[in-house]
Amino acid sequence: MAGKVPPEPFRIKMVEPVHVPGAEDREKALKAGHFNMFGLRAADVYIDLLTDSGTGAMSKQQWAAIMMGDEAYAGADSFYSLKKSVKDVLGFDYTIPVHQGRAAENVVFGSLVKEGDVIPFNMPFDTTRGHVFNVGASSVDCVIDEAFDRENLHPFKGNVDLKKLEKTIARYGKDRIPFIMVTITNNSGGGQPVSLQNLRDVSAAAKKHAIPLLLDAARMAENAWFIKHREKEFADLSVGEILKETMNTADAITVSCKKDPLVNIGGLIACRTEEMYYKLTPRVILFEGFATYGGLAGRDLEALAVGLREMVNEEHLTHRIAQVRYLGELLSEGGVPCIHPIGGHAVFIDAGAFLPHIPQGSYPADVLSVEIYREGAIRGIGLGALAFENVDEKTGERTFPKLELYRLAINRRTYTNSHMEYVAETILDVYKRRESINYGLKVTYEPPVKGLKHFLAHLEPVKL
Ligand code: F0G
Repeated sequence: MAGKVPPEPFRIKMVEPVHVPGAEDREKALKAGHFNMFGLRAADVYIDLLTDSGTGAMSKQQWAAIMMGDEAYAGADSFYSLKKSVKDVLGFDYTIPVHQGRAAENVVFGSLVKEGDVIPFNMPFDTTRGHVFNVGASSVDCVIDEAFDRENLHPFKGNVDLKKLEKTIARYGKDRIPFIMVTITNNSGGGQPVSLQNLRDVSAAAKKHAIPLLLDAARMAENAWFIKHREKEFADLSVGEILKETMNTADAITVSCKKDPLVNIGGLIACRTEEMYYKLTPRVILFEGFATYGGLAGRDLEALAVGLREMVNEEHLTHRIAQVRYLGELLSEGGVPCIHPIGGHAVFIDAGAFLPHIPQGSYPADVLSVEIYREGAIRGIGLGALAFENVDEKTGERTFPKLELYRLAINRRTYTNSHMEYVAETILDVYKRRESINYGLKVTYEPPVKGLKHFLAHLEPVKL
């Protein structure tokens, strides 16, 4: 039986009506959107689980803080509210606001990485990988092998394999490795956490080689919650304390604040030294805005300053993570192959196992997206070959990612458990008719920039 979800630690003050469009409208929407979930209009979606990014509900404290926005161009009070929250919650002395996570990536990769460099990761997210490519560098995945085994119940499947990391450092040498980066939680690998011990070990290895360690910390509070509940040595610490310990392992962080920090727009970079701060600020000014607002309005900085403090609230995290798990358990009980343990922000379905008769080159995860939308106007997203395949520019040879996943990302403080039950019932209906799904997808348009295909591709069904 799916585990009980604790009652919501909030009540609803304002509602946003949503409805299920009719079957005919769903067909029209699919065609108009070129069978790509990014091409759909949100109004044609009933439950939108495309992403947990910027889609959550803010608290009344955040809305109140918005009225305190100081819109001064430089040195606004709102910047100092944010800087104080970062210092109190995360412990960093230097804070650079940016408009979202990939802006932080642009600033960091554009300022610290040069052509031919190599960045070891556990696994990068798609935009992060895009930024690695954008500066002519490459990434090496050093995540533990358990990450690729769907049923393996390792509690920290986002961990870095230290042997792989050492091998990578030995192979490329410290001069080509400007930093190591660890994504917490590991979104591309199923929203899986990284243990504090592992981060401490990676940090020690990084120090030994005098290579900085950066964290992609979009889901750092969820990661800290998992540490509290799965890593015995830290069970007595609060999530807030664990988060600080986590941050202590890193020289700098990039954060999409649209995730755990509970805002609809915003990002940040935080670092420890003036030296790094001054290396990063010119590019912030070129691409984002002055270094004390980074492309955000003063009111956004205020909402973020409050969100950073709210994100470590344990009632909030316990409810959220249990709600995600509830959906995962409803699906698993019905036989749907999901990645276990269920991740922090999303349920990841193994689309390759759900539709084993569709070859990976025909994008089974994206066929599943289409079918789940078709069945019940639910929007999730494929994170498989369409997003992560490598096509050799000379030979055209395709290499596919090890995981062919379909993700249902749960918005924070937004949907109820009955919504989760509707999602599960809809997907179970698709699961029952899975053998009759006998088509693949082909790309009829793709953008000319490497790494961005799945966002912009036009797709067309083709009979298998
Ligand atoms: N890093 C991670 C781990 C992410 O999951 C994302 C975004 C980013 C960086 C980039 O941040 O969107 O604010 O520019 N992930 C979203 C997702 C879009 O759906 O998982 P951003």
